[in-house]
Amino acid sequence: MNNWEYSESIESEKIVNIEKKYGNFIDGKFVTPKSKQYIDTISPSTEKILSSISIGNQQDVDYAVASAKEGLKKWSKTNPSERAKYLFKLARLIQERSREFAVLESLDGGKPIKESRDFDLPQVAQNFFYYAGWADKLDIAWGGEEYKPYGVVGQIIPWNFPLLMLSWKVAPALATGNTVVLKPAETTPLTALLFAELCEEVGLPDGVFNLVTGDGSTGSHLVNHKDIKKIAFTGSTGVGKYIQKSLAGRDVGLTLELGGKAANIVYSDAALDEAVEGVVNGIFFNQGHVCCAGSRLLVQEDIEEKFIKKLEKRMQTLNVGNPLDKNTDVGAINSKDQLDKIEKLVNEGVADGGDLFQIECELPKNGFWFKPSLFTSVQANYKIATEEIFGPVLTTLTFRTPEEAVEIANNTEYGLSAGIWTEKGSKILWTADRLEAGVIWANTFNKFDPASPFGGYKESGFGREGGRHGLLSYLKVSS
Ligand code: NAI
Ligand code: MG
Repeated sequence: MNNWEYSESIESEKIVNIEKKYGNFIDGKFVTPKSKQYIDTISPSTEKILSSISIGNQQDVDYAVASAKEGLKKWSKTNPSERAKYLFKLARLIQERSREFAVLESLDGGKPIKESRDFDLPQVAQNFFYYAGWADKLDIAWGGEEYKPYGVVGQIIPWNFPLLMLSWKVAPALATGNTVVLKPAETTPLTALLFAELCEEVGLPDGVFNLVTGDGSTGSHLVNHKDIKKIAFTGSTGVGKYIQKSLAGRDVGLTLELGGKAANIVYSDAALDEAVEGVVNGIFFNQGHVCCAGSRLLVQEDIEEKFIKKLEKRMQTLNVGNPLDKNTDVGAINSKDQLDKIEKLVNEGVADGGDLFQIECELPKNGFWFKPSLFTSVQANYKIATEEIFGPVLTTLTFRTPEEAVEIANNTEYGLSAGIWTEKGSKILWTADRLEAGVIWANTFNKFDPASPFGGYKESGFGREGGRHGLLSYLKVSS
């Protein structure tokens, strides 16, 4: 017998305490929703109900915005170094309770515990530390320019990195003196609710951070509220366009972080084994639910066969299954809706004529799962080559020359990220110069740093999050 399987190593669910039902967090406390409407949030790996969360209606949003408006009076006058102290405290508490947050994130959203524990949570804490550091240095951030906060900020976040997206948005907004009304995604609200508990614990002044749970209708109430001065949105391109239209003609700031269809370009002179690792990480990280995922493999034609062989062999070693198992590489698909979308696009890819490779593995009976997949023999006009699949599905295209690689890479509505694999530094610079993408990784992929700005070109959105530039998303510079 040749059994090289890992033994199970399951992280305990017992360390998290999930309430049966949650209200909203408004004016410094948890409150019963006026809507009296609830939906369940489930664990996508088991379909077990975890809790009930409220669907905020117009009145709930009105209440939260009024609270943020009131909170602004105090917060905007709070000494910046005092604001920093709250953010430092939040960062430290997040670190202290990171195991709890990680388990909750994996339970509610389906991502592997090794990613929520080793990627999401350290990044979340770093973002709070990073922006805490800026809070009392804003006057040197932009060379003496005059600036002021927007005021009440509405933030709408997606389900792929729930707490991380919260930290990208909340930390800079509070550091710059704004107050916040946040709406998490309906399938993954639990870590935001735990974060609200931390705000209570650190004694953040009432009304500075408000949380209204709900679905698209709740988000829409927030976007259309007359007292909101800025909207920060991460999610689908369709909803991003709707929000932009809704805000037309109003003096409301907007940043949009939308979809992507990133090219991961592998030149034939690349270190192929390293490139295989980077390509695998680029698309199978977080089940491919990543806006900057390297979802289009662009491989130079003369190494295609060799590279695909190596890639398929490596893919076959991916462990798919229980997100709470520390050996799991690929967890559950976030929702039934998302699984349906992935299946539909993959079926269309096969019907169009793409060759589909899927790894051999047993999928759990309950929950939402999709096998890590690779398409070859793909034409540039297939939907799988142009549309964001947002799942563990990689599409291969080939090129002959660097010029052709750049042309194919840029042949998309999106422009969020890209990857380049070659041993030649000059080729990296030549290629990066010509790619229309907000973030370009060379001989690596999916690397993040709170000090580094992130954001898109074209239909991937506008505005930057992270780094010094991320401060500007929450400040009006007036000179
Ligand atoms: P979505 O854009 O509907 O959801 C993102 C957030 O927007 C959620 O909090 C949602 O409740 C809220 N929302 C939905 N409709 C709204 C509206 N009319 N006004 C204000 N807020 C609204 O994304 P969805 O439907 O969950 O996913 C669909 C596709 O979007 C995915 O397959 C993927 O391609 C893309 N997506 C991209 C993300 C990214 O990080 N760029 C994140 C999530 C989804
Ligand atoms: Mg859930």
